[in-house]
Amino acid sequence: MIAKTEEDFNGLKEIGKICGEIRDELVQRAKPGITTKELDEIAEEMFAKAGAQSAPKGEYDFPGYTCISVNEEVAHGIPGKRVIQEGDLVNIDVSGSRNGYFADTGISIVVGKGDEILQKICDVVKEAFDAGLKKAKPGSKKSALGKAVHNVAKQHGLTVIKNLTGHGVGRSIHEAPDHIFNYYSRWDDEILKEGMVIAFEPFISTLEEEVFQSEDGWTFLTDESFVAQYEHTIILTKEGPVITTL
Ligand code: CO
Ligand code: CO
Repeated sequence: MIAKTEEDFNGLKEIGKICGEIRDELVQRAKPGITTKELDEIAEEMFAKAGAQSAPKGEYDFPGYTCISVNEEVAHGIPGKRVIQEGDLVNIDVSGSRNGYFADTGISIVVGKGDEILQKICDVVKEAFDAGLKKAKPGSKKSALGKAVHNVAKQHGLTVIKNLTGHGVGRSIHEAPDHIFNYYSRWDDEILKEGMVIAFEPFISTLEEEVFQSEDGWTFLTDESFVAQYEHTIILTKEGPVITTL
């Protein structure tokens, strides 16, 4: 969407804050021994308390309130019986709506002490996000974000996932612009607009550049690599990006 009014900004910030708080709570509670379903129940309760709806459940009938993906699962992992272990790479992605406004945020973390490379991709994906954020302004090319993300990955000897992307958000969970790539595409000549609301979510990988869909119809998997994601909802303005999900 294009945020124009004060009501738009307030509505977007309100749901952004709710999703950010749920994300942070789940990160705190993601300790060895807890199941992904138990984490999701915390989110269910927090959404209800805030008078907000889970976007995956409400918009797509997803079997969970949040997406929780562990190790070989990259995105859209279904909360269930899986028990989180010391050293797991866990992605928590929270999206929701309130009063017709949406937000989407996610983070990958290493639980306790894990392999060095796992912490590295979690750190690099944040660095890639920050590099892209500098390009997130009205009048700039949308492809500049992906270029910045890919450059950071390459500097660290890492790759990006090419078939997962950021997206527009605001009045629904996925809307125009459809794709904010993790790499530079010269066919992408879209110009970012004042007030545009985007979910910017780089995916950094240790090796592979593509994920594939699991037989469960939801989860995106990787074969031989580990992947980290970092996502916030951002309103683009002349004065600088407004991150709603901090
Ligand atoms: Co998300
Ligand atoms: Co998203």
